[in-house]
Amino acid sequence: MGRVIAGLAPQRGFEVKLALDIDENQNGQGIIAERFRGIDVAVDFTQPDAVVENVERCAAAGCNLVVGTTGWYERIEEVRKVVAGASIGMVYAANFSIGVQLFYRLGRAAAEIFADFPMYQPYIHESHHRMKMDAPSGTAIELKRRVEPAVKGREIPVSSTRAGFIPGTHELGFDSEADTVIVRHTARSRQGFAEGALYAARWVVGKKGLFTFAEALEEGISATNAPSHRAGAM
Ligand SMILES: NC(=O)c1ccc[n+]([C@@H]2O[C@H](COP(=O)([O-])OP(=O)(O)OC[C@H]3O[C@@H](n4cnc5c(N)ncnc54)[C@H](OP(=O)(O)O)[C@@H]3O)[C@@H](O)[C@H]2O)c1
Repeated sequence: MGRVIAGLAPQRGFEVKLALDIDENQNGQGIIAERFRGIDVAVDFTQPDAVVENVERCAAAGCNLVVGTTGWYERIEEVRKVVAGASIGMVYAANFSIGVQLFYRLGRAAAEIFADFPMYQPYIHESHHRMKMDAPSGTAIELKRRVEPAVKGREIPVSSTRAGFIPGTHELGFDSEADTVIVRHTARSRQGFAEGALYAARWVVGKKGLFTFAEALEEGISATNAPSHRAGAM
């Protein structure tokens, strides 16, 4: 993702001043105020155990950030305090695809419709490439969180497949003895995530506080029409 974002950023009007990989940024050591001077926003797509350190160090450097890494959400309150303490802005999401944000809403609406028909059991299945470290995906967890209030206490089993090169597929199914109804989002490539992350990067410049991508999207600013900013990528 880091490479996809760094590749797309110049086409979207950003200047990529710095790109840090694991070799340069073990335990966040590459994030130092001196190197981050003049950088408006950092973008983190790394791994779950790197996120909090990266956020702390970006906060200390006074740099706003976008976090696309998943699997760290049990530490969200810690991150919230760091962001508030340093007065920086941060946008995070398990899925920066705009289509997935709409899919969440569609899933919730479907769950409300099916709630009155108890013969249908809801379930979630997600598939990703074999290199993805966390399972279930952050997107599946978020989908479940959104849908759960509508299913009237029924269990929503979540299952995962890790195989090959699948960019990301999420299904919300409703299964009865007679048939299955499926609401599905299929990512065709990683560009959709990169577009959304860059949208969030532009949006978060000058903001203070912790925001979800859904909140950033609600503002409805066109990513491609806004002025350019310099970005750092991790
Ligand atoms: N929110 C979204 O829309 C979205 C979309 C796609 C993916 N993701 C999430 O984003 C994360 C990355 O996904 P990916 O597919 O790009 O994974 P990936 O191919 O494994 O890439 C992650 C990269 O981050 C590097 N890295 C690890 N720790 C680092 C650190 N402290 N500083 C700098 N670089 C570090 C890794 O280096 P090594 O290879 O040397 O370990 C690796 O090159 C995952 O959590 C994934 O679930 C989110």
